[in-house]
Amino acid sequence: MERILLPEIRPAAPVSFADYCAAEGFAALKRALRELSPLEVQQIVIDSGLRGRGGAGFPTGKKWSFVPRDLPGPRYLICNSDEMEPGTYKDRVLLEHNPWLLVEGLILAAYVLSVNHAFIFIRRGYETPAENLRRALAEAERAGFLGENILGSGFSLKIDLHVSAGRYICGEETALMNALEGKRANPRSKPPFPAIKGLWGGPTVVNNVETLSNIPAIIRKGPEWFRGLAAIPEAAGNKLFCFSGQVRKRICVELPLGTTLGEMLEGPAGGMEPGRTFKACIPGGASTSFFTPRHLSVPMEFDSVAKAGSRLGTGAVIFFDERTCMVAATLNLVSFYARESCGWCTPCREGLPFVREVLTRIEQGRGEPEDIEILREHVKFLSFSFCPLAPGAMGPVDGLLRHFEEEIREHIVKRRCPVRN
Ligand SMILES: Cc1cc2nc3c(=O)[nH]c(=O)nc-3n(C[C@H](O)[C@H](O)[C@H](O)COP(=O)(O)O)c2cc1C
Ligand code: SF4
Repeated sequence: MERILLPEIRPAAPVSFADYCAAEGFAALKRALRELSPLEVQQIVIDSGLRGRGGAGFPTGKKWSFVPRDLPGPRYLICNSDEMEPGTYKDRVLLEHNPWLLVEGLILAAYVLSVNHAFIFIRRGYETPAENLRRALAEAERAGFLGENILGSGFSLKIDLHVSAGRYICGEETALMNALEGKRANPRSKPPFPAIKGLWGGPTVVNNVETLSNIPAIIRKGPEWFRGLAAIPEAAGNKLFCFSGQVRKRICVELPLGTTLGEMLEGPAGGMEPGRTFKACIPGGASTSFFTPRHLSVPMEFDSVAKAGSRLGTGAVIFFDERTCMVAATLNLVSFYARESCGWCTPCREGLPFVREVLTRIEQGRGEPEDIEILREHVKFLSFSFCPLAPGAMGPVDGLLRHFEEEIREHIVKRRCPVRN
């Protein structure tokens, strides 16, 4: 397969400026600035079928097209590199290996949007990626790819790197804007949508690291080429997947979108740990519903995963073997979300600790039969929250109820964990 983002074997040191340029680095930017209008670049990205890699899978070119071209005043572009969801570490690996793809992709996106000031909002603790980016931004400026009048095109761009204060909610795009403005990181109500009124009230686009890192290759090689990378015609491009849990290879790999879950498990993930069998997985990051052995044939791309009852999310696949208590696994995930709730709206602030409490008593053998219905009701209640954090937190609970109701019941009837005791 052809890889855009991560080679199979990666040297310890990040890609240097010289190496990046030798491998056609900045060729897309030079071509765009010399030959293509912003709208033409946007159309190439629309035609490529690229969908956002930050979790929601929204078509990238379409998102850009929502920014009005005639509004006066500054507009902004933000790269979301907050990456705090358990199991997701693809942006870190990408930035540790090659920060240049993001730098070039960000400049190209800023060109499309006529943005002169962009930000990279990076997770606190991502010290190596931040250092790589600082160095890359300084070198790009020295080489004339950033700053005033880039390559004599008349287009100017400044990129600031901002280190997050370190809460999961800061990754939600409107909370992120509040954080950047120095305010408490609560999500904002929508509408107005960021494309109209975002950072400091200006039109704003937020894109993920992996999304933007795909742009240079799309401009260089064309939209048909990009679409053709996927394993099935309904999808477009490759995707970074990060494996964790009880598999042999807990690694981040680039694979064609649409590779089946089974192919992933037996191929790049190396199979389950020796002597173990696959019981379930979280297919797309901690906020997604479980998959089971009957889902091994599902193509791992946005629509197929949704049709099968979960979400591709960030592409973080967490594998569980037969020794895993699914109630305990769900409790672990819900505890993270309960702790990270920003407290702004009642269903999430009060609901998540309550769901954590219900799961705790079931897991400890203190549950009652009516707890199953209580959990089911809360999957519904928590969908009426102010932002997607609470519904996301209920993703694994929904999967627990749909695929492992018998295991919950056994906890309640036997008054102990039937898997681990
Ligand atoms: C609680 C929460 C946390 C999020 N964290 C991230 C994150 O760390 N990185 C990211 O790219 N998107 C994150 N998102 C999604 C962003 O709000 C936004 O959809 C995304 O950055 C858009 O980029 P894309 O269109 O390139 O996917 C998060 C969303 C929610 C609700
Ligand atoms: S759903 Fe949770 S994280 Fe989102 S606004 Fe409400 S309290 Fe905050």
